[in-house]
Amino acid sequence: MIGDAPRSPHTRVPGWLENDEENAIVENARAIPEYGLAINIGVEYGRSMSDFVKYMPATAKVYGVDIAPLEAYTKNLLEAKLDPPPLIPGNSADPDTLKLVKKLIKTRSIDLLFIDGDHSYNGTLADLNIWTPLVKVGGKLLIHDVAVGPSPEHPTHVPHELHHDVRRAIDVWKSQSGDNWQVVKAVHTLLILERIH
Ligand SMILES: C[S@@+](CC[C@H](N)C(=O)[O-])C[C@H]1O[C@@H](n2cnc3c(N)ncnc32)[C@H](O)[C@@H]1O
Repeated sequence: MIGDAPRSPHTRVPGWLENDEENAIVENARAIPEYGLAINIGVEYGRSMSDFVKYMPATAKVYGVDIAPLEAYTKNLLEAKLDPPPLIPGNSADPDTLKLVKKLIKTRSIDLLFIDGDHSYNGTLADLNIWTPLVKVGGKLLIHDVAVGPSPEHPTHVPHELHHDVRRAIDVWKSQSGDNWQVVKAVHTLLILERIH
């Protein structure tokens, strides 16, 4: 329920992000270069999208992909005085959705890919296999809801069952993608990687 979702301290848009995770998203949005490109898979109420719009350079572009009709997204961004970027409707694991996005971005590669859509093992693995090849060397991959054990900052954290599925998919994808990707850090359940080859 949207009414239960906490609001962003940055934009006041609601969504299911921990504040420290969102701070890391903001930091990475700020690092997107001029005329850069971000893709946000899984938009829902628009919390992460609002961070991209607010903090990436005005010359950069972000596109959202979501399988569900998102009634609150446009309203929430407008309330935050942010221009809602276009959404590509569809299943992110469907090659036709990729085709729609490629029509928009043409041959450009991605500076920042944020995956926060289908949290099942198969869905996450499909997202990783389909979308990460479009990320440029030096670009970032942020994945939400990844199982991480209790940490000093979150001593009582017990990962949700789905977070383990996301973790397993990442482990399988990473073992198949050679040394192309390097983990930068994990912030709570947000895993950040950089493409190095
Ligand atoms: C956890 S929410 C995203 C939250 C958002 N990133 C935020 O910061 O508030 C997950 C979203 O992913 C979408 N989704 C789930 N499976 C999907 C799929 N296969 N393709 C595209 N979107 C999907 C859902 O409709 C939902 O809106």
